[in-house]
Amino acid sequence: MDVVRLIQAAMAARDNAYAPYSQFGVGAALLTQGGRIYTGCNVENAALTPGCCAERVALFSALAQGEREFQAMAIVGGPLDRPLEQGEYCAPCGVCRQVMAEFCAPTFSILLARGPDDFLQYTLAQLLPLPFGPGNLGASKEG
Ligand code: THU
Repeated sequence: MDVVRLIQAAMAARDNAYAPYSQFGVGAALLTQGGRIYTGCNVENAALTPGCCAERVALFSALAQGEREFQAMAIVGGPLDRPLEQGEYCAPCGVCRQVMAEFCAPTFSILLARGPDDFLQYTLAQLLPLPFGPGNLGASKEG
């Protein structure tokens, strides 16, 4: 996995964050098993709840292109009015972790990055233990 390329893609996506209300910009870059990268940024809304996190924008974008197999996601986030501080990593919200669990294996890698050479690496299983998933409903992920 080209970690540097993935983090740089997340940083570039963050430049497109639409976050006039929180002033908190997030970029995400999702790596498919086939090696493609899909990016997302957070997109806020004056009515607040219609907004969406960068992680889900990236995932939904990839899914809409027919992708179903994923290996990793890099996430870069923080206040837009100043540089990211030491130790300031943006972890995915609970809703995004749940959406990841729908499509990604427990071994899916999640990189919380400040830059290409400064990141923490977790698996989805570490960030969302004991997930509620398709298996609980006896459903398959096909279709
Ligand atoms: N946000 C994300 O895009 N991803 C995260 O992991 C955490 C939060 C966004 C949502 C909202 O636009 C802003 O950051 C502040 O919560």
